[in-house]
Amino acid sequence: MGDVTAAGIGVPSPTVHVHVSGAVAVIGVDNPPVNALSHSVRAGLLRAIHSLSVAPTISSIVILGQRSTFPAGADIREFGQPIAEPTINDVNQAIESCPKPVVAAMHGTALGGGLEVAMACHYRIAAASARLGLPEVRLGVIPGAGGTQRLPRLIGSTRALSAIARSELIDAGEACELGLVDEIADGALEDCAVARAQQLVNERRSLRLARHRHEKLEQLESRTIAELRASLSPQQQRSLAVSKATECVQNAAVLSFDEALRRERECVEQCKASPQAAALQHLFFAERAAARWDGEGARGSPSAPTAIGLVGTGPLRLDLAAMIIGAGTPVVVLEPDPALLASVTAEVRTRMERKRSPGARAAIRSHCAIEEGLRGATLEEMHDLPVVIEVEPDLPGRKVAAVVTLRRHLAADAIIVTTTALGSVSQVAAASERPSNVIGMHFFVPACVMRLVEVVRGDCSSAEATSLAIHLARRLGKVPVVVRDGDGFVGDRTLRAYLRAAFALAREGVAVAVIDAAMREFGMTKGPFEVCRLVGSDLAEAILVGQRTPAHPDAATYAAILRQILESPSMPACDPVSPELARTIVHRCLRAASDEGRRALEEGIVARPGDIDVVWVHGLGFPPDHGGPMFWSQRQEDGSRAHTSLAPGNHPGNRSDTATRGRDV
Ligand code: COA
Repeated sequence: MGDVTAAGIGVPSPTVHVHVSGAVAVIGVDNPPVNALSHSVRAGLLRAIHSLSVAPTISSIVILGQRSTFPAGADIREFGQPIAEPTINDVNQAIESCPKPVVAAMHGTALGGGLEVAMACHYRIAAASARLGLPEVRLGVIPGAGGTQRLPRLIGSTRALSAIARSELIDAGEACELGLVDEIADGALEDCAVARAQQLVNERRSLRLARHRHEKLEQLESRTIAELRASLSPQQQRSLAVSKATECVQNAAVLSFDEALRRERECVEQCKASPQAAALQHLFFAERAAARWDGEGARGSPSAPTAIGLVGTGPLRLDLAAMIIGAGTPVVVLEPDPALLASVTAEVRTRMERKRSPGARAAIRSHCAIEEGLRGATLEEMHDLPVVIEVEPDLPGRKVAAVVTLRRHLAADAIIVTTTALGSVSQVAAASERPSNVIGMHFFVPACVMRLVEVVRGDCSSAEATSLAIHLARRLGKVPVVVRDGDGFVGDRTLRAYLRAAFALAREGVAVAVIDAAMREFGMTKGPFEVCRLVGSDLAEAILVGQRTPAHPDAATYAAILRQILESPSMPACDPVSPELARTIVHRCLRAASDEGRRALEEGIVARPGDIDVVWVHGLGFPPDHGGPMFWSQRQEDGSRAHTSLAPGNHPGNRSDTATRGRDV
């Protein structure tokens, strides 16, 4: 590593470092955890580019991210505040004006503002495992540093719009085929980037900046845009950010680069001020806060178990086996009979083939991977497993009986996960005689689709068991929310209040089809009565009536309405619902859910309002662009004030908000 001072460069900023390799200067962004382009990074990059542009011993420059990733975006924590200069656009302008070639060397996730910086560089090289994308619309905004202008120039307007609208993450290989990346590193990324930067100078290669390329720009026809919109999810179709991104990508072909960039800035500001952006950014922080449990003894990243046992014959068994093998952890099922094991293996394979996760794809590429990943065993042979999940049907007594058997066969320190949705985790734990080693994981149906997992702490669940369950959920690609044991935990408890409000409306004479239509129109993936049909009469009745609380006075009536609905052959369609009635329906159902959520918070069943929002969005089909029932309800109460006060830093799910900071559950 060369002497930076000799090259005439000071330390650009605490988060940006420069070292020199021959005549190539390497600028490293070091801003953990994801090298986000916070003010200090932008200022450091600008300073470094300016000094290196005129440093006599430097002929070319490489920009890379230290540790695990190239910058993964603008710093979301700065959203909602006036942007302090320099902006990412200022950095991009400095790169484009630099008389020396600037090479972006990408690994990890080069996202948002990070990719926008890379697209302003003269040359892009990526590690084979890198993923690239402009996922800003997921946060209710659009790429705001030239992304809507440079991406169409590099990969074509139609492809660029599709990638932005879907927040697509593009693998390095595909990015190279598309022209977004010039080269995949054939060896250590930094070495390859430095060698290429030197070679570009030696060969005096003329390099065209993205802003000067026009050959891939297309004037998007309205039919192309209509087709793209039709292929998007309902939420993406409602998204202001998607509309504004479309406008900007269209501008790329008809306006000058600088004028289109100016319009892009205006669109960014409009999106930033939108309620959708506030809701989506709230959820971004809420999801991460919910997965963070910092109770006494919490362990950051427990190592993955060497294998996981599955005991029981409930409906979760096959889905869980497929998910765990797909995540790269071997599964041992309680199934000593080779013939029965073969049929379990076949069914797991079918599920994995349906699933599209990279882990699952890798596993199904070789038949061997599943055979090796799934083993049958007797209880005795399961003795040394560090973690066993019981997947018995959720019927009274079955879960308790399972752990009573397990306690006789497992090692004393094995963790037992119970998947009960209806019973008490503490009761199941007590039956194990080692209650601290028992933790609940409540998967929402269908388990292979819904991302939510409630990690349910019984009265005695240890920190180790809790940390392990959180980590396992994340490995399975799920969103964990830590809750305390209690009837219905948080999801089913608040769902019950919501369903009861819907049933009360039906009893007052509002047609069930009208109630379903109003909630779908609001954005719920299914109306309340469609949910009952989906989960079936037993589960719907269990949720509606409650398992562990004294019978609700209207329970019998609700059960009767439920039977009536489920027995009718199909839901009748309904005429358009009047806006006033729709508002009343939405208001009553969601208020019931959020009021119940508040009670659960008061009782310490859940730590933060944002946790309940995450439960609803990832487990119960709530539209993310409304932020969750707690966020929605707060916004109703506060009116327009809620929108501004929920700017980042004040999000209910944000750990920096002391007023809503979670307590341990
Ligand atoms: N700005 C500020 N902080 C960010 C961030 C960003 N753009 N992206 C991620 N983080 C933080 C998270 O809040 C989290 O912080 P915490 O540990 O204090 O909770 C941490 O980085 C790790 O993020 P996490 O999502 O838990 O890690 P991951 O490895 O699962 O995923 C990413 C990493 C980058 C793929 C994911 O965080 C992501 O998609 N970020 C948003 C990227 C984006 O939309 N960029 C465009 C916006 S301009």
